[in-house]
Amino acid sequence: MKCTTLGIVFATLLLVLLLGEPRKPLAAETGQLAFERYCASCHGMDARGTDKGPTFIHCVYHPGQHHGDVTFLPAPRRGARQHHWNFWDMKPVPGVTDDELVAITRYVRRPQKDAGLV
Ligand code: HEC
Repeated sequence: MKCTTLGIVFATLLLVLLLGEPRKPLAAETGQLAFERYCASCHGMDARGTDKGPTFIHCVYHPGQHHGDVTFLPAPRRGARQHHWNFWDMKPVPGVTDDELVAITRYVRRPQKDAGLV
């Protein structure tokens, strides 16, 4: 009997741990902070580019072209071979989570919109 009760308590705790809080989408500021932390060293503040990586304020990265939101997940995960610019291959970015990448993508669309690109 005692074991059964313990088992139920344990199973409930495990369920609570596994299911946890419902996942909320990260706020826009999170996207900006994550972008500045993981991407801005090459893609620049406000996604304006540096001498190490391209700006995203460019028609190449228009979401309606071949750089829709989906490309913002694989590039930092697997890296991107040099093909549009004369920088180099983008290496996978360690540490960034999928949630942060979704927030980063949302954030990048903002300066693109400000620039009249989207
Ligand atoms: C060490 C420099 C560096 C960092 C850090 C970096 N990138 Fe890049 N990224 C590049 C370069 C260089 C290219 C251009 C490759 C080309 O097309 O020639 C690129 C291209 C891309 C592309 C286009 C990929 C494609 O399919 O054409 C996306 C999307 C991208 N980066 C997203 C990100 C995101 C999001 C982060 C942060 C999580 C990030 N990058 C961090 C250097 C970097």
